Amino acid sequence: MRVTVRQLKQMKRRGEKIPMVTAYDYTAARLVDAAGIPVILVGDSLGEWMLGYGSTLPVTMDDMVHHVKAVVRGAQSAHVVADMPFMSYQADDADALSNAGRLIKDGGAQSVKLEGGRPMVETIRRMADVGIPVMAHIGFTPQSENQLGKGRIQGKLPKAAASLIEDAVELEAAGAYSIVLELVPSQLAEMITERLSIPTIGIGAGVHCDGQVQVFHDMLGMIEDFVPKHARHYAELGEAIKLAMSRYMEDVRAQTFPADSESHQMKQDALDELSASLAE
Ligand code: KIV
Repeated sequence: MRVTVRQLKQMKRRGEKIPMVTAYDYTAARLVDAAGIPVILVGDSLGEWMLGYGSTLPVTMDDMVHHVKAVVRGAQSAHVVADMPFMSYQADDADALSNAGRLIKDGGAQSVKLEGGRPMVETIRRMADVGIPVMAHIGFTPQSENQLGKGRIQGKLPKAAASLIEDAVELEAAGAYSIVLELVPSQLAEMITERLSIPTIGIGAGVHCDGQVQVFHDMLGMIEDFVPKHARHYAELGEAIKLAMSRYMEDVRAQTFPADSESHQMKQDALDELSASLAE
């Protein structure tokens, strides 16, 4: 049984923190799920860490469906949230609904996530009305990086902070089941978290959120030249992978790989028969 939206709301009520991690492929999803992480986000950040774009903006619906399917195959218990990519929901509600439906029907996700505050209220209401659970996302919203500036903290001044509080309250009223707060001061995230009955999930938003989300590649030290302030390295997989590759190269060059135990042998009588037939 997968974790449900209802269970995530109950976790907030019980004061149980919600760890969420991104995953973009089958193998990563299997590992994250086996560790017991209750929520996996197939973020459109896959545009950066899986596809090598400099931002999330070029990611398409086809990209998302492809990766969501792989993650759903890998995760048995985690709730899988699928990000709606840039311009798959902003232009009109009919598009938004059918694209969200695709992530659920074709991709197999249990819910979708989309970025934006009050302008998204009607879209979220329509989705919630037809049974599509929506995780909202406010604060720094990467799909608006051309407008906001890449990685800029949001809501530092009173007016902007009050506006984000209003966004959060209206998104909950519209039917969002959870809200990601990205790059906002921790005092503001605390105020929003206290005012909502749905869970807030922070990234660069301090410790008072109901849950935290980290990008898989950030937290595992796989992108060594980019370490955001809000990311903690729980492993140094980038270093470990490079070290493993060097050792492998050395072993191949020194002919110490593969060993006999890592190779397949013919039985002696088969070998003798072959040698004899070749000698004829
Ligand atoms: O795409 C993503 O990884 C996200 C997180 C940063 C919340 O939206």
